[in-house]
Amino acid sequence: MKIIMLGAPGAGKGTQADMITKKYNVPHISTGDIFRANIKNGTELGKKAKGYMDQGLLVPDSLVVDLVIDRIHQDDCKEGYVLDGFPRTIPQAEALDAALAAENEEIDAAIDVEVPDDNIVNRMSGRRACLKCGATYHIVYNAPKTEGVCDNCGSELVQREDDKPETVLNRLSVYHKETQPLIDYYNQKGKVAEIDGTQDLNAVFADIEKVLNK
Ligand code: AP5
Ligand code: MG
Ligand code: ZN
Repeated sequence: MKIIMLGAPGAGKGTQADMITKKYNVPHISTGDIFRANIKNGTELGKKAKGYMDQGLLVPDSLVVDLVIDRIHQDDCKEGYVLDGFPRTIPQAEALDAALAAENEEIDAAIDVEVPDDNIVNRMSGRRACLKCGATYHIVYNAPKTEGVCDNCGSELVQREDDKPETVLNRLSVYHKETQPLIDYYNQKGKVAEIDGTQDLNAVFADIEKVLNK
């Protein structure tokens, strides 16, 4: 099962990818989580990525592509994976396809979680993130058991640097320009499943399950 999550910032890609991981037992690979962990740990990659991320811009393809291609060749990816936040540009998608084609493989589905921009700014202000394990919460729609503490790993929850309203608007405009064209790209390959991401998160997951169980 090789799946790509498409959708705007805040559409719920990470939330749904986590649910897919729990049910289908394939790793959740989020490039955003990988960069945030690198920033937290002060690595060279983190230092390079931080300036772009804080402004809501994409990190250059050259810093992302090899990292993901290496990751999907690790042992835990033998039965598949959920890619969340990658690919995000046409060149990234072409690089992924080329790497898979070299092994006679292809992705199974690109799940496009659709949420209008208006809903998104609202959602982001209530988001809380665990920088240690990548879990995502919302103070109203998906609250942790104890306020401010990650259910999975017990770490402190924080607001992401790029969740300020003006940065969210920037991220949305970058999404429409750079990433939305991927919907056409994967549609031409017959891979896109469009899901209504405005529903409650369990209803969104039920729709995704229907696609994955086909
Ligand atoms: P990344 O971390 O991927 O951020 P993003 O795409 O902007 O998406 P988000 O993580 O913000 O949203 P999400 O769709 O995962 O939503 P979530 O589930 O959290 O990337 C961050 C940055 O890293 C980029 O801006 C870029 O700089 C860089 N980067 C990463 N990958 C890159 C790449 N490939 N190339 C270049 N640069 C890259 O949900 C959002 C909130 O809503 C949460 O609070 C959640 O609890 C809540 N929620 C979820 N579902 C529902 C629902 N159904 N109803 C109500 N609330 C819900
Ligand atoms: Mg995410
Ligand atoms: Zn955690």
